[in-house]
Amino acid sequence: MLTVGPNEGDMACGEYGPGRMAEPTEILAAIDAALGGGPLAGRHVIVTSGPTHEPIDPVRYIANRSSGAQGTALAVALRDLGARVTFVTGPASVPPPPGVAVVPVETAQQMLAAVEAALPADAAVMAAAVADWRVANAAGKKLKKDGSGKAPTLEFAENPDILSIVSKASVRPRLVVGFAAETDDVIAHATAKRARKGCDWIVANDVSPATGIMGGTENAVTLISDAGADIWPRLPKDEVARRLAARIAAELG
Ligand code: C5P
Repeated sequence: MLTVGPNEGDMACGEYGPGRMAEPTEILAAIDAALGGGPLAGRHVIVTSGPTHEPIDPVRYIANRSSGAQGTALAVALRDLGARVTFVTGPASVPPPPGVAVVPVETAQQMLAAVEAALPADAAVMAAAVADWRVANAAGKKLKKDGSGKAPTLEFAENPDILSIVSKASVRPRLVVGFAAETDDVIAHATAKRARKGCDWIVANDVSPATGIMGGTENAVTLISDAGADIWPRLPKDEVARRLAARIAAELG
């Protein structure tokens, strides 16, 4: 059975929440995809999502608070437009969606290997919160207190930047999309990040505590591309995903 919506947002009765009718374009896209069509039919899109876990020893790791919600919503939206989605996910707190090829990974190095193995692709959307550093001197056995009161010293090594590597790969996807969570001067920082990493688009958002976006259900993003900065209104994360998927479909033609 095919179900579409309901969506979250403003409703005719004046309330806000889950209950809004799905957009007609979305309903048509879902029907198309269910019939094997859709604007992204025949396209392969890689999505990275979730945090990475970087081991300290066999039982401990360094992680971050990424839930994987935005990456999961993106995989769903791309799938619903008919794309074949490879979903490379770290240990996220939201379950991976059905109907996509799930590649579970733990570390940044594993995520890079999984993304490289999934190439070629028409587009890559890097929504994962990849750890910048891993523990260079991770222990093969569980670290134990030795009674001396001395704490172990962790040394760090920089992780590979998957977004940069894919943006510069010889089998580069036609469209590479990165994310940028910033707390100030969002457009300037994200524009610089786009140039530095070599990706086509950056989806930038302000995650300063006052916005309530971090860990929340809504997102307010600015899409930075060759065309400049396109500021979107504050929207539920799955609506952000649907709009981004529609833009990707339009870009890939
Ligand atoms: O530099 P920063 O971590 O802010 O960049 C965020 C973007 O880069 C996201 O799209 C993220 O998925 C990607 N990234 C990556 N590999 C890393 C670090 C970030 O793919 N090691």
